[in-house]
Order: sequence, then C-alpha cells, then structure tokens
Amino acid sequence: MTLVNINVQNMAGYTPGEQPESLSIIKLNTNENPYPPSPLVRAAIAQITDEQLRRYPSPDARLFREAAARVHGVPADWIMATNGGDELLSVIFRACLLPGDRVAFLEPSYSLYPVLAAGIGAAVEALPYRVVGSTWNVPDEIYSVNARLLVIVNPNAPSGTLTDIDALDRIIKSFNGVVLIDEAYVDFAPYSALPLVKKHANLILLRSMSKGYGLAGMRFGYGIAQRILLDQFYKIRDSYPCDAVAIAAATAALEDQAYARQTWAKVIDQRDWLRGALSEMGFSGPESFSNFVLSAVPAGFSAPDLYARLKADGVLVRYFNLPGLQDKLRITVGKPAENAALVRALGRIISGHDMASQRKA
Ligand SMILES: Cc1ncc(COP(=O)(O)O)c(C=O)c1O
Repeated sequence: MTLVNINVQNMAGYTPGEQPESLSIIKLNTNENPYPPSPLVRAAIAQITDEQLRRYPSPDARLFREAAARVHGVPADWIMATNGGDELLSVIFRACLLPGDRVAFLEPSYSLYPVLAAGIGAAVEALPYRVVGSTWNVPDEIYSVNARLLVIVNPNAPSGTLTDIDALDRIIKSFNGVVLIDEAYVDFAPYSALPLVKKHANLILLRSMSKGYGLAGMRFGYGIAQRILLDQFYKIRDSYPCDAVAIAAATAALEDQAYARQTWAKVIDQRDWLRGALSEMGFSGPESFSNFVLSAVPAGFSAPDLYARLKADGVLVRYFNLPGLQDKLRITVGKPAENAALVRALGRIISGHDMASQRKA
C-alpha cells in the first residue's frame, strides 16, 4: 500500500485492549474504574437541550476548564480539555516532534507512545526501568537524555510503581525539551506532580477521566500546563474535540470529588487485598499505586497460558507479549466480588482447588 506515507506504511498500529460485548465477562483488562460515575453525571446528561446538540460545543470546554481550575487551584487557561488522554498525547507528540527528532520514555510503559512516535517518524530513546528488589526505579541515564520530548507515566503503567516528586523535579530541571508526566492513574496514588507545573514551563501533566472518574465510555481527558506551553498545543489540536454531552458529563464528574474519592478508596483497599491474595498463590510484583497490579506468574506457569485459561473461565486480564512482561499478567482491580472470582479461578487453575474459598474479599 503506497497511498499513505512511508512512516505509516512501515509502522504497526496500536492494539487496544479487548472490549468484549458480553456483560457477563469479568473485565479486568483495561483499567476502568469498577464503579460507575457520580449520579450527578446522569443528571447533567439529562439536562442537555436540543439547542446544545444543534450548536457546536464550546471550543475549549469552558465549563470543564473552570471546574478543573477550581479543583486543581490553577488558572483556567492552564487546562486543555481533549477527547480522552490519548488525544492529548497525540497533540503533544505532533506539536513537539518532527521526523527524525528524538522522544524518550521509560520501558516498559504505555504501549501507545512508540506508535505515536512511529507515525511521525520520530526516533525512540527507550530508557529501561531499573528493577531494584521489589520496585522499579528510573535509570540514571534519564538525567542526561537528549531528546525533544520526555514522557514519564506516574504511577507507571503497566507496573503501578511511583516515582517521587524530588526525582521528577530534578529530571525536569535537567531536561531541555518538553516533559510530559502521564498521570492517567494518579487518582489512586498518594500524590501528583501538580506543584511542579507552577515551577516548570516545560512540564505538562496528562489527566484522564477514564480511570478515576468512571467515564472511559465518554472519552475525556485534559492537560495541565502553564499557558505559554498550552497556547502552542492549542494551535494544532482539533477545533471541537470534546462534544457537548461529554463536557457536561466530565464537568459533573470532576465537581463531585466526594463521590470520586469514595470510589478511589474502595479500589485502593481492594488493590491491597488482591496483591496479598496473589502473593499467597506464588505471584510476585511491585507495590502498586494505581488501579491495577502487575504480577509475575508462579514458577512453572506460563503467563499467556494463564491468561487464556482465565479467559476461558470468563475472566479477562491483560497479557503483553513485550520484553520484560512476558512472564507477567496485568490485572485491573475490580469490585470485591470480581476480585474474589479472579482469585478463585486462578486458585482452581494453579492448584486444582479453590484457594480463595478460605479468604474473604
Ligand atoms: C498510561 C496511560 N495514559 C493515557 C491513557 C489514555 O486514557 P484515555 O484516553 O482513556 O483518557 C491510558 C489509557 O489506558 C493509559 O494507560
């Protein structure tokens, strides 16, 4: 196929996680919040008028920007709303990189980054995470990396590990280009890099409404950065990336902090339970600060085989056939009954008997 440019001809596209239509499957594969969005979201959607549907929406999602400014304590023009965090990534990659430019990120991390780089013809500088005992650290090379764009997922996906703020501060100071801290999972972590945005004009944070706010079906994300940087990104993004319904829903969800926080607390509680239950079965992995756990399968078992057997049992988790991940499963934290069902299924597969029956979720 020579109709498209050579970069596109040569690249492999992104493979999204499986989205089964059956609602009876226990879906622990794409890190959605197991709880629905705030009830205020439905009320906000119900109030959408025909006139709002007839007209184009606010180009900058004004109501959402103002709500985000209040929640995060930054000016409204430091917020850029996008059609999911993924669109923000695409805007930043396109704004920062020309063919041949270098983009650096840690490996493994979100598997969309190399795809976006390949589409532009940018060169990837992959910095391997250092696995130290039971955690993962950023390698020292990050302080001297030479690239136009540096992406750090914090908490990391797919490991769930967290880099501390002082290290992030030093990394940003030492880097000449734009630093993107992808905080898609930050709602489940003890802290955000938000205070650093005030200090560094070359920093942008990515936030997603898909995980913490239970709105993956709505497609809404946003960036937080100083206006001087966002003004550049605004130039190349779509004119109306967020529709009127999504703006109303995302605004209502973000404003109901009390509801969202209650779902995060339940997920965090279950995450720690799940990690304990997996460890009792011989799985091992770093402490997670996210809404999923990454676990190496017990000795003598194969991760793709366990993935397939769980799927046959009606439980969907994520297996990545990528370097460093081939012996691991990434499991989204679900509701207590879903986590218990997963542990029961694994118990049956691993030891032939139901290990979870003695545990209470
Ligand atoms: C690390 C990371 N960043 C960004 C995103 C994008 O999220 P969304 O486009 O749903 O807001 C995801 C989604 O899975 C992710 O895992």
